[in-house]
Amino acid sequence: MIQLLGSGRSNASVRIQKNKIIKTYFDHSSAEKRFNNELDIYLFANENKLSYIPKLISYDREKRQLVIKNVGTDLQKYLSKNKKKSLKDFLPEIKKIYDDFISHKVYHNDLRKKNVLYNKKNNKLYLIDFENSGPRYLDSDHEDLVKMVKNIKKTYKRTKLGSKRIKRKRKSKRKSKRKSKRTRK
Ligand SMILES: Nc1ncnc2c1ncn2[C@@H]1O[C@H](COP(=O)(O)OP(=O)(O)O)[C@@H](O)[C@H]1O
Ligand SMILES: [Mg+2]
Repeated sequence: MIQLLGSGRSNASVRIQKNKIIKTYFDHSSAEKRFNNELDIYLFANENKLSYIPKLISYDREKRQLVIKNVGTDLQKYLSKNKKKSLKDFLPEIKKIYDDFISHKVYHNDLRKKNVLYNKKNNKLYLIDFENSGPRYLDSDHEDLVKMVKNIKKTYKRTKLGSKRIKRKRKSKRKSKRKSKRTRK
């Protein structure tokens, strides 16, 4: 069975074939550029074993076609069907993935629920759709997902640093106690 997916936004057709996804770029002035950009990211991810990017099975430069492993359901679809789960539940993991991608000097630049996939079986998240990804931040962030991810980063850092600071203070207190004991003797 072949199922058509894709937003149509990018002028690419996305078909599901069993455990594979076939993405083909239409003949459009920017198709070549977007295809090459996405292919480069998949090749980079495969080389660097980025586990949160689905495996690229094969590609065809002439047909401008990518064959990618089908790794799950996008969060837009998943959350609309599973009312018990909310986007909040996934934010910490999205943050991890998003930050790791940046640590490789790549901004996703189209972060949205449709471009984050969830695999229920292994409880893992994946990033897809790298047509606009690159070394500069250019995300218009329509869904405020980057904003949400950044916000949880701040709270996390604050508590982490805070606890470190508290430990250090305690240590130095102990030291000064010891010192004062010694001087008393
Ligand atoms: N590797 C994949 N595994 C499972 N679903 C996928 C995969 N790649 C794409 N999809 C599905 O196809 C949709 C469109 O793919 P995407 O690469 O984002 O194309 P577009 O550029 O049209 O947005 C995604 O939102 C998702 O539902
Ligand atoms: Mg997409």
